[in-house]
This record gives sequence, structure tokens and C-alpha cells, in this order.
Amino acid sequence: MLSEKNDWLIDFAAIPEDVARRAKILYFNYPSNPTAATAPRSFFEEAVAFAKKYEIMLVHDMAYAELAFDDYRPTSLLEIPGAMEIGVEFHTLSKTYNMAGWRVGFVVGNRQIIKGLRTLKTNLDYGLFSAIQRAAETALQLPDKYLLEVQERYQTRRDFLVEGFAKLGWTIPKPNATMYLWMACPIGVSSTDFALGLLEKTGVVVTPGNAFGEGGEGYVRISLIAELDRLGEALARIEAAGIRYDRFEI
Ligand SMILES: Cc1ncc(COP(=O)(O)O)c(C=O)c1O
Repeated sequence: MLSEKNDWLIDFAAIPEDVARRAKILYFNYPSNPTAATAPRSFFEEAVAFAKKYEIMLVHDMAYAELAFDDYRPTSLLEIPGAMEIGVEFHTLSKTYNMAGWRVGFVVGNRQIIKGLRTLKTNLDYGLFSAIQRAAETALQLPDKYLLEVQERYQTRRDFLVEGFAKLGWTIPKPNATMYLWMACPIGVSSTDFALGLLEKTGVVVTPGNAFGEGGEGYVRISLIAELDRLGEALARIEAAGIRYDRFEI
């Protein structure tokens, strides 16, 4: 299970030998939804070594490849020597190009794995509506300036919220990437109680961390998809309701 103790990274040494031997696929995602964790290059090297040792396919979901801030640049699995022999990497246009729900993305990497996916896909569904393919083609050809604007937008929202919450006594780590903040609930308050309490008192919605698995208990995810004025409104409501992190009452 992922945990804050391990910086929300997979602890390969903790995976039992028999589980590793039976495994066929290792799916992972950094920069991460929901924890906003990022993984260093050494983690990817460990993942490749682990997958090779146990003959496991590596599938890396890099949905937040471009949503990185300051000078941080996420590592691609395919940068790692040997990764092409056992791995593939997925990307989606959902986040970078605001095309969530359009179901358009791509996969790159090991030829044999992609061939298997192609066989599966051609038996499951058909090609995408061509207008969406055209839109995707246009999106992928946008100049780098567009990517910088997107990064700046999310980075501004991140800073605005983290600093705004800090004034209310809420300490939230500043993530290097993604469109989320991942915050520990006050001690002794569950994810559900915290999210429901906030919703009832202010109408502000955060996602309880336990919705993502048991490791998420005790955390909530805050999304940065709203415009600054809406984020400001959320902060103002929390302040007006007198909700202080250090004495949160349900
Ligand atoms: C890690 C990750 N992968 C994939 C997706 C969704 O991608 P798509 O809209 O292409 O299914 C999301 C969106 O929430 C995500 O966070």
C-alpha cells in the first residue's frame, strides 16, 4: 500500500516474493493522481529492475506529463535503459488539452505489448469519431507556448490555494506537478467526516482520500480545475465559517 512514509512511492522491497512471481502487470502513475507525488529517476530504475527480475510488464500512466511546475520535469519510463524491453507508457489529452471525456490518448513503448493491446482493442471497440481525431491532431501541434500557459495557470492556482489555506492555518504541501493538492486531515478526523463537514458548512467539495483506496484514509484531494475567482470564493467561505485546521470540529 502506498503511504506518506514512502513519499507515496511503491515500496518494491515490501512486495512479497510469491506476489511478485505471480504478477503479470505492474501499473503505476507518476506524477500521481490523487497524491500529487512525483517519482525520482532512481524509482523508475528500480521499477525496471523489478519488472525484469520477475518478468512483469510495466505500464506507466503519465497523464500529468506536462502539468509540472517551477523547474520540475517528470521522468518518462522510456528514458530508463531497458524499459523498452518490458514497458509501455500511456498519455492522455484529457489534462494537458482540457479534453477530458473525449477518450483520446496514446501509448508508446514495447512493440509486442502494443501489438497485444491492439488485438484487444480491435475486438472491444472501434476507432474514434474522426472530428475528435482532428481536434487531437490540432492540439498536439500547438506551439510550446500553449504548454507554458497551461503550466502557469495551474501553478498560479496551486500557489494561490496553498498560500490562502496557510493563512487559515491549513498546511498543504506544494506539489511539483498535477492539478491536485493532497492534504492530511486534522488528526483523528476521517477523510469522509472532513469532506462531509466541509461540504455541509461551506458547500466546498473536496474528495475524500479513502475513495482512492485504504491508503488514502486520513487525506483529502483538492482539485485545481476551478478558476481563481471560484478558488477565492472557496477560501472566503471556509474563513467565514471559522473553520480552522487546528481546531476542526464536525
Ligand atoms: C492518472 C490518470 N490517468 C488517466 C486519466 C483519465 O484519462 P482519460 O480521460 O484519457 O481516460 C486520469 C484522469 O483523471 C488520471 O488521473
